[in-house]
Amino acid sequence: MKVGIAGTGRMGSAMAQRLMSLGHELSVWNRTPEKTRELAAAGAAVAASPAALAEKVEVVLTILTDDKAIEALYHGPGGLLSGNVAGKLFIEMSTVRPEVEVALAKKVEAKGAALVECPVGGTTGPAREGKLFGFAGGGDSEVAKARPLLEQLCRRVEHVGSAGAGARMKLAINLPLYVYWQALGEALLLCQSLKLDPERLINIFSDTSGASNVIKMRGASVAAHLAGANAGPATMNVDMVCKDLRTMIEEARALGGTLPAAQAALKCFEGAVAGGLAQHDQSSLPAHWARQAGG
Ligand SMILES: NC(=O)c1ccc[n+]([C@@H]2O[C@H](COP(=O)([O-])OP(=O)(O)OC[C@H]3O[C@@H](n4cnc5c(N)ncnc54)[C@H](OP(=O)(O)O)[C@@H]3O)[C@@H](O)[C@H]2O)c1
Repeated sequence: MKVGIAGTGRMGSAMAQRLMSLGHELSVWNRTPEKTRELAAAGAAVAASPAALAEKVEVVLTILTDDKAIEALYHGPGGLLSGNVAGKLFIEMSTVRPEVEVALAKKVEAKGAALVECPVGGTTGPAREGKLFGFAGGGDSEVAKARPLLEQLCRRVEHVGSAGAGARMKLAINLPLYVYWQALGEALLLCQSLKLDPERLINIFSDTSGASNVIKMRGASVAAHLAGANAGPATMNVDMVCKDLRTMIEEARALGGTLPAAQAALKCFEGAVAGGLAQHDQSSLPAHWARQAGG
């Protein structure tokens, strides 16, 4: 299938690798052109603009930082929707507020094209292996059209409602995860004086009710950060975690609710950003907090 990916950041690039490995004819575009070089070397075509990308493919995937990036890519000069896109399918996978996806779906439909939003759970490793969890929002026929491609990227695709429903689900899923990073940091602070080997400590946690599913996936990385060792490149950075938390808090405010635990976690993570951790992986957060105990 002729597939385009507009936005080859961490997740976009990982998904591009996955789709190329399955034999799709891939075209890419990214605001910062250097980030398309590796994909081009692996055989992807690089389009001159988002509009040129949309013109040459059947399906366009986007996974971008935030609503501003969606605005720029879809509606900016030479944007994805600036040409004739009638009959094309757009799959929008960024973590943003539901209203952003609802508004985008209307604009895409007005151009005679279809939009399915499908934010994902899982990071770059699962994206390269086709093991993400997709939260799809959109009409039944549109989601059915997107499903074969989504199932090549995801171990599980749940159609949770109309446009915006996927974004809502994704924000909800990330909330306990982020609060957990902070809770784990606080728990590890309590353990600092035990002077246990970090791998052993995380192994003990992971076999108890003090674990969350993420320990199974990222426990080694948390232990490496605790040991001060190289934990590898960031897959989801602390800046992006703060963006997600702010988005959840805004969404709750619009619903007339509050998220005190998420607000407290955001305050702690903003402290980590001020301490230079903005581009570090989210798995560095527990060790960052635990170190306050002087360990
Ligand atoms: N990383 C993860 O583990 C993970 C997992 C699930 C969901 N997500 C979500 O997926 C999305 C992308 O995350 P990521 O980690 O792949 O981020 P990333 O590596 O920072 O990539 C962000 C992408 O958005 C583009 N972008 C940002 N602002 C733009 C603008 N104004 N105009 C045009 N393009 C713009 C970037 O282009 P440039 O390269 O030019 O900056 C880049 O292609 C986020 O919504 C995140 O919350 C991430």
